[in-house]
Amino acid sequence: MTQLGTVRDAARAMTRTVTESTGMAPCLGAAPRVIDEPAQVRSMFARIAGVYDPLNRLLSLGIDQRWRRALLERAGDVRGARVIDACCGTGDVALVFARAGASVVGVDFTPEMLQHAQRKKVSLPAHAAKPAFAHGDALRLPVLAASADVCTVAFGIRNVADRRGALREMARVVRPGGRVLVLEFTMPPGPMLGALYRFYFTRVLPGVGRLVSRDAEAYSYLPRTVMAWPSPSAFQSEMEQEGLVDCGHRLLTRGIACLHWGRVAGGAP
Ligand SMILES: C[S@@+](CC[C@H](N)C(=O)[O-])C[C@H]1O[C@@H](n2cnc3c(N)ncnc32)[C@H](O)[C@@H]1O
Repeated sequence: MTQLGTVRDAARAMTRTVTESTGMAPCLGAAPRVIDEPAQVRSMFARIAGVYDPLNRLLSLGIDQRWRRALLERAGDVRGARVIDACCGTGDVALVFARAGASVVGVDFTPEMLQHAQRKKVSLPAHAAKPAFAHGDALRLPVLAASADVCTVAFGIRNVADRRGALREMARVVRPGGRVLVLEFTMPPGPMLGALYRFYFTRVLPGVGRLVSRDAEAYSYLPRTVMAWPSPSAFQSEMEQEGLVDCGHRLLTRGIACLHWGRVAGGAP
């Protein structure tokens, strides 16, 4: 069996264990629809999975973890909450929420990223419920409708071919009154900071990324997709158009990142 085959089998086994390790019921038979997966994005994350975490820390000077904590703060008290983290990658958001007492299922379509997430669970304190990591597509999350209190996505929705479809899917899995939270990069406003950041983002970051990851494409893909991303207010409008209520956003670190939130209509917050 090839190494990739082994990884895929492991990911399939992880999907099967979702019911056993969480209160959430996966849709039986809802295997990820391979046909919808943008193969290039997935193979790019497979190639950089091993350097993804250290490069995140290096290129953001450690601020990325502060942004994930801001995501947690916006979710409120998550003790006992059922959380789905879409595009979970190496599991950083899932671990932050698990430490705060949530029961988390992380979903990603790159088995190599999930393997790192799986390994990182050992860093959790004994009292924290270990997250379950499942192989799946953000456009077809392997959990039942309205089975979660919160659905998050951090730096992932930008990579999904149909971002509105991803928002609809996140809303589908959240119960009425529950929250949808999106953390994403933006381009900082203002001519000075904007120009400075653009230089860092388009020149320095791809260079360092290429050097460390030895992947020419991955770290130029990042600025390209961020620059093509809608403004915070335009993305908020998209969340509202997809039926989410009480939507808002907050710029983080002078607008390098943005935290978006919304609720599924009806029910208690
Ligand atoms: C930039 S990483 C973000 C990982 C993590 N959320 C974090 O905070 O570091 C983007 C992740 O999204 C995943 N991804 C992209 N498109 C996806 C899709 N349609 N379904 C599931 N995962 C997807 C990739 O495999 C990758 O692991």
